[in-house]
Amino acid sequence: MSFIGERTPPAAPRPKITVHTLAERKRNGEKITALTAVDYPTARLADEAGTDLLLVGDSLAMTVLGHPDTLSVTMGEMLHHTRAARRGTRHALLVADMPFGSYHTGVDEAVRNAVRFLKEAGAEAVKLEGGKDRADLVERLTRNEIPVVAHIGLTPQSLHRMGGYSVQGRSVPAIDSLLADAAALEGAGAVAIVLEGIPREVAAEISSRSTVPTIGIGAGPDCDGQILVFHDLAQLTFAPSAKFARRFAEAGTLLREAITRYRDEVLGGRFPNDAESYHLPRAVREQMEAQTEPAVEALG
Ligand code: KIV
Repeated sequence: MSFIGERTPPAAPRPKITVHTLAERKRNGEKITALTAVDYPTARLADEAGTDLLLVGDSLAMTVLGHPDTLSVTMGEMLHHTRAARRGTRHALLVADMPFGSYHTGVDEAVRNAVRFLKEAGAEAVKLEGGKDRADLVERLTRNEIPVVAHIGLTPQSLHRMGGYSVQGRSVPAIDSLLADAAALEGAGAVAIVLEGIPREVAAEISSRSTVPTIGIGAGPDCDGQILVFHDLAQLTFAPSAKFARRFAEAGTLLREAITRYRDEVLGGRFPNDAESYHLPRAVREQMEAQTEPAVEALG
């Protein structure tokens, strides 16, 4: 095959990321990139930029719906956002977060709700929070063809039990408990484990012991992958961000400036200008003018 005369060789088709890709990355020591995406444009941008895993995170309760925490978001809202993200996702693995209450009242109810994400919204896996206490549920979902991403450490749905959002795993018993959580979830068949808000050293230890990939957020650089909330990455937030949430763009500032400029241009009569307006064909304009002239004369 020759590329003579072509400016660039055709790009190799990007493979679809599946749960097997995640396992392969872990085996090969290759990093996994993940991002929350809760609507069509964000999912498209993140997917086209080559992000491996897109999470319809229940943090959308705060970032998009304006709630103070993640507890009140409903199954209906999560399904709605998952469908939108699905339409923008081609290559990435699409994971839907199970909202608070959707897997807390019994295994059958949890399986029914998880099935809805795959069947009605096109998710390819679900994520749920909790450690060894959730291992039976993870196993049951896995046996029912539903891949599960687990989530331990700072689990925002445990806000009231934790007494606030604070870094977890800072004492030896707490570290032992996290190691046991990760082992139980791995044994139950989880396809990945999100490690949130734990010391770097603890995340490194869990990652080195685990055969399934760990995906860190506020857990240091030694995890097998990283995830960020898109709204933190893009500075589309209204509260101070945690120290791990690096802003890769100042989109909030850009948008604020754009909206202020738009307002000023409208108020000053400079938007829209003539080039931004539609015009009549000359013949129709002349006809219109001829029709309106007598009325103008009558007024005069
Ligand atoms: O909902 C979310 O955004 C999450 C990430 C923080 C992992 O669970």
